[in-house]
Amino acid sequence: MTETIAVVPGDGIGQEVVPVAVDVLDAVGEFEFVHGEAGDATKAETGSALPEETYELVAEADATLFGAAGETAADVVLPLREAVGSFVNVRPARAYPGVDALRPETDLVFLRENTEGVYAGHEDRLSDDLSTLTRVVTTSASERLAEFACDYVDDRGLDGFHVAHKANVMRETDGRFRDAVVGVADEHGVETEAVLMDAFATHVCLDPEQFDVVVCPNLAGDVLSDLAAGLVGGLGLLPSANVGPENGLFEPVHGSAPDIAGEGVANPSATLLSAAMLLSHLGYDDEGDRVRAAVEDVLAEGPHTPDLGGEASTEDVADAVLARL
Ligand code: NAI
Ligand code: MG
Repeated sequence: MTETIAVVPGDGIGQEVVPVAVDVLDAVGEFEFVHGEAGDATKAETGSALPEETYELVAEADATLFGAAGETAADVVLPLREAVGSFVNVRPARAYPGVDALRPETDLVFLRENTEGVYAGHEDRLSDDLSTLTRVVTTSASERLAEFACDYVDDRGLDGFHVAHKANVMRETDGRFRDAVVGVADEHGVETEAVLMDAFATHVCLDPEQFDVVVCPNLAGDVLSDLAAGLVGGLGLLPSANVGPENGLFEPVHGSAPDIAGEGVANPSATLLSAAMLLSHLGYDDEGDRVRAAVEDVLAEGPHTPDLGGEASTEDVADAVLARL
C-alpha cells in the first residue's frame, strides 16, 4: 500500500524546509504526496488561513508534514491538530554532538496535552478594561495523555515520567490534571514524580540529565519545550509529532521565522527530524532511523546553517543529508 502524505509548508521558512523534507521522504520510501495551502499568504489570497480543502486533505491523509504559519498560526495549527484527532504533542529535545549547546547532556521528551488547557479557545473581551480566559481541563483528556505516556516509557524501557503542573495555585484545573495523570500511572505500575512547572524550569536548566519524559499541560509544554530548545542549540533542532489514535501531524517546533525567511538559510534539521518521526509513526522504523542518523551525522560533521554558527544554506544541509541516504 502506498501511504498518502499531506504536505502543508505554510509561511516563511516553512516554504524552505518542508520541500527538503519531502525530498528526503521520497529518497527512503514510496509515498503519494498531496499538497495543501495554509497560513498568512493563503489568508491574503483566499480570505481563509485554512481552506476547507486543506483541512480535508490533512484529515484524510495517512500523515501530514506541516511547516509553520505566521500570524495565523493559531487559526491553522490548532484546527489541523484537531483534524488528525491529536491529543498529544510529542516534543523531543536533545543535544547533538557537533552542535554547541548550553547543556550538552540534555536528552528529554515533552508529552504535551494537545486539546485543552488555556488553548481551548474560550477567551472573551468583556469590556475595554477586562478580558478573560477559561481554562479547560478534563479527567478524560488527562487520562488519555497518561495512557500514552505509560506506553511511551514502557516502549523505551524507562521506569516512569515527570508530571509538570502548578496545582499549588491552579488547584482545581492542574490538581485534576496531576491527579488524573498520576492515577493512571499508578494503575500501570509506572513511577511518577510531580514537579511544579516553575521549579522545573530552573531544574531543567541546571541539571537536565535528571529528566527523561515530562508530561505537561498544553501551555506549559509549549513554553518549556522552547526553553529546552535553548539548552540544546536552538529552535532549528526541535521536531514534534501531533499524535492521534490513527493519524498524525508532524511539524518543527519553530514558527515561520520572518527574520530569516527568503534567505535560504533556515536550518532544516527540525523538519527532517519531524519527517523521521512521521516515518516511524507509519511503521517505517528503519527508514525513520536512517533519516535520523543522516541528520545526526550532518549535525556532527557539518555543514551547519548560521543558527548553528555555520555558513551553509538550507540546500547545502539538505544535499549533505541526501548524500548520506
Ligand atoms: P520562530 O520560531 O519563527 O523564530 C524564533 C527565532 O528562531 C527567530 O530568530 C528565528 O530566525 C529562529 N529560528 C526558528 N526556526 C529556525 C530554523 N529552522 N533555522 C534557523 N533559525 C530558526 O518564532 P517567532 O519569531 O516567535 O514567531 C514568528 C512567527 O511564527 C509568528 O508569526 C508566530 O505566530 C509564528 N509561529 C508559528 C508556529 C506554528 O506554525 N506552529 C509556532 C511558533 C510561531
Ligand atoms: Mg511554540
